Amino acid sequence: MTTPQIKPASGAQYSRIHGVGGYRPSRVIPNAEVLNWIESTDEWIRSRSGIAERRWATAEETVAEMSVQAAGKAIAQAGIAPDQIGGVIVATVSHLKQTPAIATEIAQRLGCGTAPAFDISAACAGFGYGLGLADGMVRGGSAEYVLVIGVERLSDLTDTSDRSTAFIFGDGAGAAIVGPSPVPGIGKVIWGADGSQADVISQTQAWDTAFAKPDAVNGVGEETKWPALRMEGQTVFRWAVWEMAKVAQEALDAAGITADQLGAFIPHQANMRITDAMIKALKLPASVPVARDIAETGNTSAASIPLAMEAMLERGEAKSGDLALIIGFGAGLVYAAAVVTLP
Ligand SMILES: CC(C)(COP(=O)(O)OP(=O)(O)OC[C@H]1O[C@@H](n2cnc3c(N)ncnc32)[C@H](O)[C@@H]1OP(=O)(O)O)[C@@H](O)C(=O)NCCC(=O)NCCS
Repeated sequence: MTTPQIKPASGAQYSRIHGVGGYRPSRVIPNAEVLNWIESTDEWIRSRSGIAERRWATAEETVAEMSVQAAGKAIAQAGIAPDQIGGVIVATVSHLKQTPAIATEIAQRLGCGTAPAFDISAACAGFGYGLGLADGMVRGGSAEYVLVIGVERLSDLTDTSDRSTAFIFGDGAGAAIVGPSPVPGIGKVIWGADGSQADVISQTQAWDTAFAKPDAVNGVGEETKWPALRMEGQTVFRWAVWEMAKVAQEALDAAGITADQLGAFIPHQANMRITDAMIKALKLPASVPVARDIAETGNTSAASIPLAMEAMLERGEAKSGDLALIIGFGAGLVYAAAVVTLP
């Protein structure tokens, strides 16, 4: 008897982003407020990072709440019903409850039925990682539409006394609906990881180490210190400038697109100087609009690319159907870049 053949899943030939949406927390933190925590100046922060202000979430603006708001906008723009979503991927490093994944609550609140829902931890490359997975799911036939969310409450992991990070991070959520397309709308995702540099950006202590310490309040031992994000700024800066421009070029080449054909360049909003250095390395023509959302939003890690994409479309800096080069990079170290058609 011959072994029976399994019927394989089959999906759409191509995929694209059908809708994008963002949520920006209500509380604006201008540089002037940061100067209450660290010795610095507004001029230094602006010139070294490009940041003028950032948004920090209130207690009510939880990871789930911000995600539901952003996703609602993306779903509306895509013009689909929530129960058509066959997968919910939430990229975050700041959902502080280890299990269950926050994606299941978000999927339930949105009305996504029993769609598979899971979290991924890929820091500032999280949105690109999610996009790569969603593209594969749609084309592989495991889902018709996939919701990709990048969401962070980095204020919960910021040490406001650390001069090298206190001014950088912000909170927010961005979401995209990926679904079938008659023409290619997502180029090959160029993604990777370099674990040899895992210490360059990381949480100061694991939760078990932090909470294993007897609490000084009880009169014994050391005071428990809440873990925060720390980074070797210059190492990250050099890596981003030198290595990420090559990855961005690889994404352009894989998609068969040249820089002058782009309608937008939307890099992860890590630092305005990193963006400027990448523009130079890529020889991006001055006519290509560049996302500079960091000025008002700070670095929101996984949320930064969809937030910046939404802002560019809303302001008319780029339009639906334009080609955009996106690239995310951060803790891991990890990266992901692709050329996409804007929704
Ligand atoms: C964090 C970052 C802005 C710091 O800028 P930098 O130019 O590397 O700053 P350095 O740490 O070398 O410090 C330079 C000087 O500024 C001072 N300085 C550091 N932080 C400061 C602050 N917040 N305000 C004022 N001065 C500061 C330092 O003391 C140092 O002074 P010195 O020259 O007298 O010793 C920069 O390294 C960076 O953006 N890195 C990438 C970070 C990033 O993108 N992270 C996210 C990745 S996803």
